[in-house]
Amino acid sequence: MPVLTRRHLLQSGLGAVAVALLPRGAVALPVSYQLTAKRVAKTLPGCIGPSDLWLYDDGRNETLPIVLRATRGEGFTATLKNELAEHTAIHWHGVRVPHKMDGVPYITQPPVRPGESFEYSFAPPDPGTFFFHPHCNTVEALGRGLAGVLIVDDPRDQGLFDIEHVIALKDWRVQNDGGFEDFLTDAGAAKAGSFGSLRTANGMVAPTISVPPGARVRLRILNLDSTRIPQLDLPGAKAVVIATDGNACAPFALQGWRLGPAMRADVAFIAPEKPGVEIPLQDIFSTKPRVLARIVTAGEAMRSTKATLRLPEAELPQPDLKAAQKLEFTLLAGNPDPALQAWAKEMGVSPDEICLTQKVFWSINRRVWPGMGEGALPPPLAELKSGRSYIAELFNGTPHQHPMHLHGHTFRVLGSSERDLPPHWADTVLVRPKERVRIAFVAGQPGDWMFHCHIIEHQETGMMGYLRVA
Ligand code: C2O
Ligand code: CU
Repeated sequence: MPVLTRRHLLQSGLGAVAVALLPRGAVALPVSYQLTAKRVAKTLPGCIGPSDLWLYDDGRNETLPIVLRATRGEGFTATLKNELAEHTAIHWHGVRVPHKMDGVPYITQPPVRPGESFEYSFAPPDPGTFFFHPHCNTVEALGRGLAGVLIVDDPRDQGLFDIEHVIALKDWRVQNDGGFEDFLTDAGAAKAGSFGSLRTANGMVAPTISVPPGARVRLRILNLDSTRIPQLDLPGAKAVVIATDGNACAPFALQGWRLGPAMRADVAFIAPEKPGVEIPLQDIFSTKPRVLARIVTAGEAMRSTKATLRLPEAELPQPDLKAAQKLEFTLLAGNPDPALQAWAKEMGVSPDEICLTQKVFWSINRRVWPGMGEGALPPPLAELKSGRSYIAELFNGTPHQHPMHLHGHTFRVLGSSERDLPPHWADTVLVRPKERVRIAFVAGQPGDWMFHCHIIEHQETGMMGYLRVA
């Protein structure tokens, strides 16, 4: 997925594609997309038969997953048409959207039933690398590929890099004949999750990604898997992370950075000056590194004399740490909470069983998410005041890692009790076993904002709740 900077792909509502080369400083136009959520038979690499994928079809479908672009502060519209056999919605992960655009059925909008459409429209307030996905039956939908990338361009960083590439990591629980294995297993859900056997980047196995020799390279790496937590490395490049979950950070060395499900890392380096040099993007989590993609120098050389491998500073609401109120969230194994179970029964929660928690393995503050239904919401994990600052301590009392995501907010990760964690902005933070991670944020727009683990099997077996901002 090569994307030259300053080249914006603009798509009209009719699906016609226009490519515009915007000169530096040019005004970007609002963009609009038509997205049809539908089943597509497609043969994944190494399989002998097609898989029943669920994809967002934007009329181009050039890449797996699709990549949409918007510009910071400019209008962005995506009309979702549901051609699946079950209800759906789109959650714009990490984008600080208005509450009614957050895409959580029953909480921020009614579910989009089969055959129906829903128009998402907002002006993304922050630049960065984001993605989108549904929020019900997520384990199956994501497992079948229903996700897309959303890049929000920053007019301030045009020209900082010579080339950028999107690298979306995803594993598939697919068998040789193309059939899928169960997306949720008890054994997986109760532990680190059920892993896929086919590991891909942009739908391919270790694809070759070319960059001009000597170029200033930006890789937008996204973990769109529901389970796997790769530990990244680009041996041979002095690669630095320049943005976490899309938000600019003080650059730090990439080597060993763990990218939990839903997390993103924008990575920068200067390509070697010789053509034909290969730099593998590796997962070094296990002793035998796994190559996820191969970056290879090719084409005409570029000479980047002044290389600033750093993005303009993130402009996000700064929490007032002195005045901040403290919150605590404890992640534990879960047992059904009798009070909540009784509540769910009484409320007749989730007539639509795809949003129901079926089994319970996990909890937040000893509470287990019972599911949700029309007009029926369990009480929030915390009640916050819009505009007030909060410091939340996330404690992981389980033997597994949990990438915890808060909707509608970008928080500051302040530090960890167990390791050197560079302070950075995030919407999803990995909390390791026994670790306490402190995050701070300013409570945003009024509404109920989901807070959950992004190992989807954990999310769907209890490790979910929401914060109410009033
Ligand atoms: Cu990407 Cu509620 O999640
Ligand atoms: Cu988890």
